[in-house]
Amino acid sequence: MAPSLEEILRAQRSQGPAEILGIGTATPPNCYDQADFPDFYFRVTNSEHMTHLKDKFKQICEKSTVKKRYMYLTEEILKDNPSLCSYMGRSLDVRQNMVMTEVPKLGKEAAAKAIKEWGQPKSKITHLVFCTTSGVDMPGADYHLTKLLGLQPSVKRIMMYQSSCYGGGTGLRLAKDLAENNAGARVLLVCSEISAINFRGPPDTPARLDKLVAQALFGDGAAAVIVGADPDTSIERSLFQLISASQTIVPGSNGGIMGTFGEAGLMCHLIKDVPRLISSNIEKCLMDAFTPIGINDWNSIFWIAHPGGPAILDMVEEKIGLEEEKLRATRHILSEYGNMSSVCVLFILDEMRKKSAEEGKLTTGEGLEWGVLFGFGAGITVETVVLRSMSISNTTH
Ligand SMILES: CC(C)(COP(=O)(O)OP(=O)(O)OC[C@H]1O[C@@H](n2cnc3c(N)ncnc32)[C@H](O)[C@@H]1OP(=O)(O)O)[C@@H](O)C(=O)NCCC(=O)NCCS
Repeated sequence: MAPSLEEILRAQRSQGPAEILGIGTATPPNCYDQADFPDFYFRVTNSEHMTHLKDKFKQICEKSTVKKRYMYLTEEILKDNPSLCSYMGRSLDVRQNMVMTEVPKLGKEAAAKAIKEWGQPKSKITHLVFCTTSGVDMPGADYHLTKLLGLQPSVKRIMMYQSSCYGGGTGLRLAKDLAENNAGARVLLVCSEISAINFRGPPDTPARLDKLVAQALFGDGAAAVIVGADPDTSIERSLFQLISASQTIVPGSNGGIMGTFGEAGLMCHLIKDVPRLISSNIEKCLMDAFTPIGINDWNSIFWIAHPGGPAILDMVEEKIGLEEEKLRATRHILSEYGNMSSVCVLFILDEMRKKSAEEGKLTTGEGLEWGVLFGFGAGITVETVVLRSMSISNTTH
């Protein structure tokens, strides 16, 4: 007898939830010590005379809690490309030429590590989701990565440009839907950011301090994960399950975080109220995500939150009475790499499972079963992903 429509459709879908089957990260080699960065930044941008702004920048760098950041831009590159060092110089072509090459290249490095951990041949990758806010071109970074990595030409690609700092969460949400709705799918999600798209000299007026905040926080990096359902347990090891994923716009946040593209590259706009706006809405996001699971104690879950800046993390902690150690992995990534936009949440996932194993915890989520991953970015938009950790003993080959 011919199968029913229901049976045909069911056979197209996976049985179990989407799972993360490998994680890889990468940074450019060039590293800046945050303590020395104000001197470097004002020197290389020929702005030593702006002593008041330099003092403010030092203050912001100190408060950033960032210790070091990796960046493609070296002093030599900046000297060769002086348009990047002015505040509003015509520089889009120069920036675009850099990021069109460097974004897929760094993404490739992270992807190769994720594929290695996953343990399957790359020909088994069925879908590619690529996320970046660093530039835009056609065909996009997804196409270039497919070529660089030697993926099948038939790999089904989705390019996400301009999702800003919430993009890592969006990518996981998409990867989950793809993996659960396509039996046998193996999705490679890559986030890659090169801050050369928005590096610029100090503003000509102290009223634009948010531009200095961006220069104090952003760093470069790439991270990749392999997502699939119904793992072949003879080869594949699940690190986390993706249980639910949602997106929302923070009420009253219109334009709180924005980016505009123009002749001077990507210009970031941040209002001072960002930490209050995000933290005021966080409990609602948690309730919406965890009520169906029966959880209402936010200290009973593990936490991965996009580290937009320490003031956001401080206010989230305060607003919902979060214990200090909950944001340990999040703050660690902010301190070691700065704000790498969409990439950060995947670095924190990697840090969490590695630290959990190192400390002899029973699960990849600091010994706990349930966790939350938050992306915060332009809009202001919040991505909320509910994660389930895996037993550490099952995650090693
Ligand atoms: C930037 C940051 C690290 C500074 O730390 P802080 O504890 O607030 O430090 P301070 O209060 O000393 O602020 C330093 C200066 O920056 C100014 N400032 C901070 N954020 C600003 C913003 N978004 N716009 C304009 N000025 C800002 C402060 O007003 C202060 O200047 P002032 O002394 O003239 O008043 C912190 O405010 C932060 O984490 N902000 C969130 C950043 C953000 O929105 N990230 C989202 C990107 S996804």
